[in-house]
Amino acid sequence: MPSVTDNNRPGLYEDSGSRIYNGDANEYAQLWKQHNPDQDHYVHVQAGVLDWYKDLARSGVHPDAGSLVICGPGYEIQDRDLNPSIIRSNVGEHPGIILADWSTGILDNAYDSLVETNKALGPKLQLARRDFSGGLSSNLHDMLLRRIEDIQDKQGLRDFMTWLRDSVGIEEVERHIHSVPRLATEYSRRVTRVLEVPEALDFNAILHGRAEVRFITANMLLTGMFALTEGEFRDKLIQFRPEIEEEEFVEMLGIWHNLIFQLNTKVASDFMLRALELNPTAHIFAPSDVDVNYKGIETFSRLDVAALRKSFDERGYKFRVKDEWTLDDTHEKPAHSHQMNVLLACKNGALSEAHRHHMQTLGMETLHGAEPDASVGESSDSSGSQSVSVAIKSKKAGDSSPVLSRKERLRA
Ligand SMILES: C[S@@+](CC[C@H](N)C(=O)[O-])C[C@H]1O[C@@H](n2cnc3c(N)ncnc32)[C@H](O)[C@@H]1O
Repeated sequence: MPSVTDNNRPGLYEDSGSRIYNGDANEYAQLWKQHNPDQDHYVHVQAGVLDWYKDLARSGVHPDAGSLVICGPGYEIQDRDLNPSIIRSNVGEHPGIILADWSTGILDNAYDSLVETNKALGPKLQLARRDFSGGLSSNLHDMLLRRIEDIQDKQGLRDFMTWLRDSVGIEEVERHIHSVPRLATEYSRRVTRVLEVPEALDFNAILHGRAEVRFITANMLLTGMFALTEGEFRDKLIQFRPEIEEEEFVEMLGIWHNLIFQLNTKVASDFMLRALELNPTAHIFAPSDVDVNYKGIETFSRLDVAALRKSFDERGYKFRVKDEWTLDDTHEKPAHSHQMNVLLACKNGALSEAHRHHMQTLGMETLHGAEPDASVGESSDSSGSQSVSVAIKSKKAGDSSPVLSRKERLRA
């Protein structure tokens, strides 16, 4: 198969603010390139995406009804989030496809993978560079990296943990200004189209009113945005592990995960709700790691699924947690695995004009102007996901802790 060259790729809808996170995005991409992901996990993801397409089709939302946005595509998408058959059939039917990520390297890789698998996708593809963390990823990294690097001994680690527990929460990370953007030479090399879209999730602006967004996927994105800083912390913790008693080690993990739990929940909630406000007829498919189990040590929640559900309920939006499998990361240090769930969301089945028109041209009537929403129906909600959101009070007043004892998980 002839390989795609730089010249074939479309210009990029650059984010005018990307200079701030460019260095972190490049580093993240490097880290993810070296990561050897559990291939069995993708079997579940691919089955999940096919189910999602089928459920939506039963609701009258076919791929040709609107554009697809793939957020955080990662590398080798043809063998991971998707497979060649899905790329040729389902994905091929969309009138437009947007790849959105904060890393240009990953965007290029995803573009090449898709076009090499299905040439017909080339003219439909748009690339958009976006930060989906609302600045929090780079803020956290900038705020913690130097402090983590500076930890020289056990006491230094203890001091860092105390500072983290007592002084760092969402507000502090939001307030932190990433003051020294690390510029990469790559930045201005590419011919780009800068579209001044203040909203990272306003995908319809890129489509200029054509084939509005109806399908959004975000595989391992919502709880992966702080992975760069998480990696730095884990390395440091491992370095001093031989000097730390088991109980203190678990406590340190707990302090760390309490912060990540809060940040993940904020970015996931902001992402999903805002995506639906700006793309009101879209359906979201988001396989996410909702907890982490350090083998033989402890399980910590990574996402407050109950809080997410509540914010959807309050708005009358639909939210469903489906499927459940284990993602094996036992080759990493400390050895761990994740419980995975598919999160599904949509606004409320309101039909867009485009969809109504599509149905009419097919000679089909719509029922009371609303879709039955098989994609987020109530029938087979995963009860397992709800156990993850059980939380106990941590030492910091008002915070919920993501620590789940094995007993609690079994009881829930
Ligand atoms: C853990 S990887 C998952 C990749 C792929 N979906 C998979 O499951 O193999 C996370 C993806 O989201 C992107 N990403 C991470 N943080 C991001 C952020 N703050 N804004 C936009 N994209 C981000 C990464 O560049 C990467 O493509």
